[in-house]
Amino acid sequence: MANSCYSSLLLLSVNIFLHLVLVNCKPPLAPALYVFGDSLNDCGNNNHLHTNAKVNFKPYGVDFPYAKAASGRFTNGRTFADFIAQFLGLPLVPAYLGLTTASRAKITTGINFASGGGGILAETGIITGNVLSFAKQIGYFNITRRDLSKKFKTRPKLESYLAKSIFFVSIGSNDYLNNYLQPGHNSSRIYTPQKFADLLIDSLRKHLTILYKLGARKFVLYNVGRLGCVPAVVSATKPKPSTPCVEDINHMVMLYNSRLPRMLTALEHSLTGSTFVHGDNFNINKSSAETGFTTTQIPCCQTTNVTTGLCLPNSTTCRDRSKIVFWDAFHPTEVVNMHEAISCFNATSKCAPINFEQLAKKK
Ligand SMILES: *[C@@H]1O[C@H](CO)[C@@H](O)[C@H](O)[C@H]1NC(C)=O
Ligand SMILES: *[C@@H]1O[C@H](CO)[C@@H](O)[C@H](O)[C@H]1NC(C)=O
Ligand SMILES: *[C@@H]1O[C@H](CO)[C@@H](O)[C@H](O)[C@H]1NC(C)=O
Ligand SMILES: *[C@@H]1O[C@H](CO)[C@@H](O)[C@H](O)[C@H]1NC(C)=O
Ligand SMILES: *[C@@H]1O[C@H](CO)[C@@H](O)[C@H](O)[C@H]1NC(C)=O
Ligand SMILES: *[C@@H]1O[C@H](CO)[C@@H](O)[C@H](O)[C@H]1NC(C)=O
Repeated sequence: MANSCYSSLLLLSVNIFLHLVLVNCKPPLAPALYVFGDSLNDCGNNNHLHTNAKVNFKPYGVDFPYAKAASGRFTNGRTFADFIAQFLGLPLVPAYLGLTTASRAKITTGINFASGGGGILAETGIITGNVLSFAKQIGYFNITRRDLSKKFKTRPKLESYLAKSIFFVSIGSNDYLNNYLQPGHNSSRIYTPQKFADLLIDSLRKHLTILYKLGARKFVLYNVGRLGCVPAVVSATKPKPSTPCVEDINHMVMLYNSRLPRMLTALEHSLTGSTFVHGDNFNINKSSAETGFTTTQIPCCQTTNVTTGLCLPNSTTCRDRSKIVFWDAFHPTEVVNMHEAISCFNATSKCAPINFEQLAKKK
């Protein structure tokens, strides 16, 4: 049912119609990829929400080969999830809110629920408007699951399909950027950094347990990247830090990141038949020696001022987008997404104890 056959129909007309069907059939490694998270993987959900965290304008998508207009991806090209879908042999995973009810009910190769500004906690991101928290994303998946149960007819068939599908979750940045570090939120007055990290871990554990109860078995969970190195964060810090990154913020994120792998291991032991892969976004090596990038923290596109973070509509971009780490003042360029996807897909440098490919093949 869900295989990646790209067929193109060529109609050559002289007097006859020659139907030439080119089919490239290689079965995908997993029946589906379900995506949860934030702007790092949003592929258009926020286009349908009242929020400032929206990028449905140029130059976003300038290098995205599959759509003419900016799709709502917070980068110049493909996201991490786009690359993983392609490596798995699946079609690109569409945004839930961009689909009609009829197509939502038809798709069996995965749906993307990620929403720019969204986080683990329900109140995260509300300063940017109406975005999808992890709980809301799971609520939509629950509706998808109901559609799937009609499609698969018997419970064992649905369960088997869900158990083979991959559930990719990359979330948590906004719980810092659009919650804890924002003066308008009360969380930093209520919680110490350690208590806040504990709160995030506890909340994440509850959400993952709900996904498990809905049938998910194969999970990939990403930690939070070095937020203290994000251009928008560096430029908003007063007084100007003496180091390239704001190390206090990196240390704060570390409190969360250091608890994540142990929580996942414990969850795997308590939830029968589950597998949790941990993906590392923090200890990534963006050094020029390794990847050919320039290490500059200057965004590729023009932003009003670096603090607001997003590209100015219709603004020009840097020339060599394959050598720059940051696309806007928050988000990585496509080439960074590609390197990260490769290093988790079939290498073991970023994902442990197994990679995407091994997870997909696991019986
Ligand atoms: C890893 O996967 C990518 C994408 O499918 C492929 O291009 C590459 O050759 C693979 N590398 C290895 C070592 O299998
Ligand atoms: C899923 O939907 C069912 C109704 O179809 C509801 O009873 C249940 O509480 C929902 N679960 C979640 C986690 O949203
Ligand atoms: C903090 O803010 C959240 C969301 O705005 C609210 O639900 C919560 O009650 C507040 N907590 C306190 C102690 O004020
Ligand atoms: C990153 O690269 C540097 C220099 O190439 C190396 O010393 C360091 O160990 C690397 N860090 C990681 C996390 O791979
Ligand atoms: C950047 O823009 C924001 C929003 O317009 C404004 O509040 C802030 O003061 C500006 N920062 C600088 C450095 O100009
Ligand atoms: C950007 O360019 C498009 C097409 O040229 C135009 O329709 C749109 O109004 C422009 N937007 C802004 C904010 O200038």
